[in-house]
Amino acid sequence: MTSLKMPHKYIVVGILTLVLIFTDYLCGSVGSVEIAISHKLCKCFNTTNDNNENGSIKCMCVQNELKEIPNDLPTPLHELIIGKASIASLTKDSFTNYKKSIRDISVKTLRDLRNLVYIENGIFDNMEQLRTIIGMN
Ligand SMILES: *[C@@H]1O[C@H](CO)[C@@H](O)[C@H](O)[C@H]1NC(C)=O
Ligand SMILES: *[C@@H]1O[C@H](CO)[C@@H](O)[C@H](O)[C@H]1NC(C)=O
Repeated sequence: MTSLKMPHKYIVVGILTLVLIFTDYLCGSVGSVEIAISHKLCKCFNTTNDNNENGSIKCMCVQNELKEIPNDLPTPLHELIIGKASIASLTKDSFTNYKKSIRDISVKTLRDLRNLVYIENGIFDNMEQLRTIIGMN
């Protein structure tokens, strides 16, 4: 009789483990949803979770062909990552569409901006949400 109880125990533990894994999976997917937004040169995502019903929009523009900051990224843009770009100048117009919403701007490596020869004075003026500008390397 006791030898029959052992498999039972294992089955219960097994089911409990599955339930826990499944619950975790369900909660994880409800907590944060990432939707890709297509763009010609950049990879953009709209991430929604319980705390931001408006979504948080992030674009990664890692492209040799990138000559300037694209002005057609989805808005309101919150986070911008730039890499490998051949951007030669950054002007106030570069961020016009995003300056109200942008929170983080990052450059993957400084070498990525080796072609940058001109930064207009006051480029970050009126970016009230801006928290960080990061050079990752
Ligand atoms: C969502 O957007 C509305 C309108 O812009 C704003 O009033 C609200 O505070 C935003 N909610 C969050 C959680 O950011
Ligand atoms: C991002 O997702 C939120 C929530 O689903 C939606 O209200 C918002 O319109 C989306 N924004 C874009 C640019 O797709």
